[in-house]
Amino acid sequence: MFSALVLSLLLAATLFLHSRQKRYPLPPGPKGLPIIGNARDIPKSFPWYTYDRWSREYNSEIIYLRLVGTDVIVINSAKAANELLNKRSTIYSDREHMTMLLDLVGWGGRNFAFAHYGDLWRAHRRLFHQYFHPGAVPAYHAKSTLEVRRLLPRLLSHPDDFMQSIRTMTGAIILGITFGMELQPENDPFVALAEEALHAMAQVGNVGSYIVDYLPWLQYLPSWAPGAAFKRQAAKWNKIVLEMYEKPFQTIKQALARGDAPPSILTSMLETLDPEEDNAARESDMRHVTGTAYTAGADTTVSSLGTFILAMLLHPEVQQRAQEEIDRVVGSDRFPEYDDRDSLPYVTAIMKETLRWRQVTPLAVPHRLRVDDEYNGYHLPAGSVVVGNSWAMLHDEERYPNPDLFDPTRFLTPDVELDPDAPGPELAAFGFGRRICPGRYFAMDSMWIAMAHILATVNIEKAVDDAGNILEPSGEYTSGLISYPVPFQVAFKPRSSAASALIQGGTPLA
Ligand code: HEM
Repeated sequence: MFSALVLSLLLAATLFLHSRQKRYPLPPGPKGLPIIGNARDIPKSFPWYTYDRWSREYNSEIIYLRLVGTDVIVINSAKAANELLNKRSTIYSDREHMTMLLDLVGWGGRNFAFAHYGDLWRAHRRLFHQYFHPGAVPAYHAKSTLEVRRLLPRLLSHPDDFMQSIRTMTGAIILGITFGMELQPENDPFVALAEEALHAMAQVGNVGSYIVDYLPWLQYLPSWAPGAAFKRQAAKWNKIVLEMYEKPFQTIKQALARGDAPPSILTSMLETLDPEEDNAARESDMRHVTGTAYTAGADTTVSSLGTFILAMLLHPEVQQRAQEEIDRVVGSDRFPEYDDRDSLPYVTAIMKETLRWRQVTPLAVPHRLRVDDEYNGYHLPAGSVVVGNSWAMLHDEERYPNPDLFDPTRFLTPDVELDPDAPGPELAAFGFGRRICPGRYFAMDSMWIAMAHILATVNIEKAVDDAGNILEPSGEYTSGLISYPVPFQVAFKPRSSAASALIQGGTPLA
């Protein structure tokens, strides 16, 4: 009797909630076709511009799309992102399940950037945070400074390959701090392995690239079955992903046992283990968290430094002003140091504007809503993929007047101090809520020291071809999860003989 009453009450409450939610419409958006929904409306390239336009057309901060059975909510304003992704982060912090990427290619349980909002994600994120919180990252300053100084002569000798040189630098910094590795200057075997794994990630990282993402039961097809080529491909990639996580971990673990492992994040993690205990689970966390740092951190920082070079090429007046600041504070007989940062606000403002002007991840990384929700009178269905349009938020004309202009002074007071009230790019450039990029302090440190060194020692100029024609950069970007400047030509020239001496001398660290 009692349980019947409880059941009826529960049923009534469910119906009430259901009917209440039913009263709210879905957010506005383009109508779409049966079954495929808006699949044809969403452009394959640069969808962030279209989402922003729709937001204006439908006069709504959030828009609704349907993609072959999946609800998608796109958030185009910082206000709505703050309200939903930040303030309601307990329900907005999950990720969509991608069968090909996670179960077949093997990133599941390893790379916490893709993990569901649950215990594994929490454990990995907590461990990662211990080594990348603001108080921890100064420990990596010496390594990033060293690698930036190694970058400078490469920029001068291989200007056509400058993006590759920057990639080598970011890889060397991350692998140096996580595993204590010294990379081979060219064709480093671990970098090659990690790049292969990242390539596999890029191939399968977009939901919908593989039909098995929509029909997960297909993963149980035998590999030899017709139509199961994806399984054979996945098995090859899976091997690479496994090896990428396993190899450096085992190498360092053995070196530590021998007593000759250079200090690193991994050695400091391993040293916390009690040999008397069963450490399998903790070791697994350590293996996966350290392996993930490279995959999440190398390419992102490369993109932002590519944007910095492009911005300096297009805005020589900004470059010159930064150089004047550096000359005044640092002089010309030494490199800038992290300790100079507080005295170089204009350089810091360039770093912020770089992150705002062109986003590394214009749509951040999509979240997933776990339960039904409601915002501004709209119903947001459980299971929706929630996309934060960082590009739109960081090009909001009210917050950033003339948003397409590269203008570092937007972050400065008239006395050229950093303006504490100016909304920084952290508003959206690193994602949102509980999923916000945990590598951001380290990323901004690495960006800053690289920018300060480059500005201090070289002029970034437009390249000239053999016939004397100036080679203009297109200013275009690639589309994708990570967006890069389309390759362009650039000339790096030492600013002075003193700068040349610094670059070639590889001045030791202070
Ligand atoms: C300019 C450089 C970088 C940018 C713009 C960037 C941006 C982002 C964004 C947009 C996300 C997704 C946030 C969300 O889901 O809302 C993210 C996640 C993440 N980033 Fe970064 N990132 C950068 C550098 C780094 C670096 C250097 C590291 C590691 C050392 C790193 C590690 C991670 C990790 C582990 C996640 C997954 C977090 C999670 O899902 O809980 N990132 N990053």
